[in-house]
Amino acid sequence: MANVSIKDLGKHAGEEVTLRGWLYNKRHKGKLQFILLRDGSGTAQCVAFRGNVGDELFDRLDRLGQESSLTVTGTVKEDKRSPGGYEIDVTGAEIIQESGEYPITPKEHGVDFLLRHRHLWLRSNKQVAVMRIRDRLVRAIREFLADDGFINVDTPIFTPAACEGTTTLFELKYFDEMAYLTQSGQLYNEATAMAHGKVYCFGPTFRAERSKTRKHLTEFWMVEPEVMFADLDDIMELTERFVTAIVKEVLEHCRGELEVLERDVSKLEGIEPPFPRISYTDAVGMLKKGGHNFEWGGDFGAPDETLIGESFERPVLVHRYPKAVKAFYMEPDPDDERIALCVDMIAPEGYGEIIGGGQRTASLEYLEKQIDAHGLPHEAFEWYKDLRRYGSVYHSGFGLGIERTVAWLCGSKHIRECTAFPRMLYKIYP
Ligand code: 4AD
Ligand code: MG
Repeated sequence: MANVSIKDLGKHAGEEVTLRGWLYNKRHKGKLQFILLRDGSGTAQCVAFRGNVGDELFDRLDRLGQESSLTVTGTVKEDKRSPGGYEIDVTGAEIIQESGEYPITPKEHGVDFLLRHRHLWLRSNKQVAVMRIRDRLVRAIREFLADDGFINVDTPIFTPAACEGTTTLFELKYFDEMAYLTQSGQLYNEATAMAHGKVYCFGPTFRAERSKTRKHLTEFWMVEPEVMFADLDDIMELTERFVTAIVKEVLEHCRGELEVLERDVSKLEGIEPPFPRISYTDAVGMLKKGGHNFEWGGDFGAPDETLIGESFERPVLVHRYPKAVKAFYMEPDPDDERIALCVDMIAPEGYGEIIGGGQRTASLEYLEKQIDAHGLPHEAFEWYKDLRRYGSVYHSGFGLGIERTVAWLCGSKHIRECTAFPRMLYKIYP
């Protein structure tokens, strides 16, 4: 009997096949037993009739606990009411392992309980859908960037210095010196971009975030494109094309998953360029009008970001923040020294900032002043300063947070469901 994946059942209508998987759920009705079997590729309803499978197997199946592993053999029948549109008329089954009492039952569980059982929770259909959407997103990102002429060059995770401010560094002992887990690959990206023109790095990044929010992890993944001879406008245009393309790919390939998550896809279908663009100063005006107590010069808090994001149907590009709230490497606005040539993309529906980026300073002199102003150690940045000593040119880039983007696409209220094993303040198990 051919072993078949549930996703391929449609190719085997009328044939007898064997499925291998886990018992997701079951119900019993007289001489019939309805077994929901999942195999990772999908879920199939398998119907066992006492008269066909015999009393012994029927009763054994009846006692079988959730998440027991088994193979089921039977004939594939078209059935519009079944998940996936096909059903198995069971002729036989082999139990591989009878599961102990499975902790995650179809009833509701508290999130702390679920997080402690994350290694099992991952098997639930909504969690499977989220991870599949994440996989498709990652694929779409790599495809878009490759097609657009980017070279993937990954950057180190152990680093000798801060990229995004010293308050969120994870410090560790690196033989006889101290090192930090990377907050962003950007600085190294700037070096590899001077070798290749257009590069991206894609990997885990770390921030010792001391706050518990729906949008912060201590370990998250970021994709960071960096482009030589690109200014702020060029990079804003790239973020817009990039985000449009990846949303389209997910919509095209993950309809079923989005349905499992009950995501209102009409909200994603309208994502098309041009995205609204507003300056930080305009955004402050919006906040004041919206009744927020906010002064020009501060950084946006979560409620501010929510108000801005919810004011538009598409992601909004907020550009030109005061340089005091941004990282040291940013190019100042030639029209106003107080302002940095940077951009954040804020997703609609309250999902918050998904992209941060901007134009990097090309001037060695200005960079040195900024390193001092931010109280950073010059020694650690000598190599970075070399990039301004040998053929410095204007250049720009950005970073897109994967989990935040997955949360937006999936309509997940909390970022912790958007990575397989979330790392958060005081949470490092399992
Ligand atoms: O805005 P950020 O800090 O920008 C940078 O790190 C730049 N060096 C990137 C670059 O220009 N190459 O972070 C970029 C994005 C944010 O917009 C957000 O999506 C995500 O990374 N992010 C987080 N995601 C989850 N948890 C956290 N603690 C995050 N911090 C940032
Ligand atoms: Mg940011």
